[in-house]
Amino acid sequence: RKHLLGLQELSAEEINTILDTARPMRDIIMRDIKKVPTLRGKTVATLFYEPSTRTRSSFELAAKFLSADTLSLNVAVSSVQKGESLIDTVRTIEAMGVEILVVRHQQSGVPQFIAAHTKMSVINAGDGFHEHPTQALLDLYTIKQKFYKIKDLRVAIIGDIFHSRVARSNIWGLLKLGAEVTVCGPPSLIPVEISKLGVRVETNLDRTLAWADVINVLRIQKERQDKGYLTGFDEYRDWYGITREKLNQLQNKKILILHPGPINRGVEIDDYVAESPQAMVNEQVTNGVAVRMAVLYLLAGGSDNGVTI
Ligand code: CP
Repeated sequence: RKHLLGLQELSAEEINTILDTARPMRDIIMRDIKKVPTLRGKTVATLFYEPSTRTRSSFELAAKFLSADTLSLNVAVSSVQKGESLIDTVRTIEAMGVEILVVRHQQSGVPQFIAAHTKMSVINAGDGFHEHPTQALLDLYTIKQKFYKIKDLRVAIIGDIFHSRVARSNIWGLLKLGAEVTVCGPPSLIPVEISKLGVRVETNLDRTLAWADVINVLRIQKERQDKGYLTGFDEYRDWYGITREKLNQLQNKKILILHPGPINRGVEIDDYVAESPQAMVNEQVTNGVAVRMAVLYLLAGGSDNGVTI
């Protein structure tokens, strides 16, 4: 494969290849000297039209740990502000000799559009409500790290399903690897067509928590709630917030808790839960660097055993 645009288009074998490749990459991160010469001579650029802390930084670190050169284009102070088009911006980056472009855009489909008009490899770092493939890959990696498998696990994705590219990529990845998936949230934040993907739909949080081995708690996207999807953040917390009381209700059942970040503390998840040993928030971030190293390595054509994505 030349691009990573979404998990919908990847096979289970390709997803497993990325997860297996991420394991030795994580070992590199844990060393004092986090540098291997694998991508020396390659250049990786990040082009983010939406804010990011984790995805952008971890792609840059992943590229640096593999000895690639990096270019981080700051859209806010770039010629995009003078009206330069998306494709002209992409072609300008390509003309500088960049081989791999990591792109985030508020519009669904932009990475696919760029991939059709460039010689560079394109990695989707989040497009609109559509997909965030590397987030789902790092979530899968984190689940597998704890359970040694994905197949037959019960995974609940909780919260703002409607606006969530993280939810969509997780659904594709989890189903392909054989997990059972439930989406849970207020009806106004669950798109009606989501059940056609093969997930269970639930609006009751207590039933969902009693069922699940793993929960992935989505961020309430405050910037996208302008159309009255929610009656209020306090009310959301009362009905769907993952609180100390909710964890205590489960007694001895220790579910694994994922959150992609950034967290709205006191809305979708409380401090107590986010800081609990069951919460994998920081582990997910570390795994994100390893998974992104694996993706860069595989897209650049590297593989010891001839397996690629
Ligand atoms: N999870 C995630 O995509 O975080 P950032 O927006 O900080 O990259």
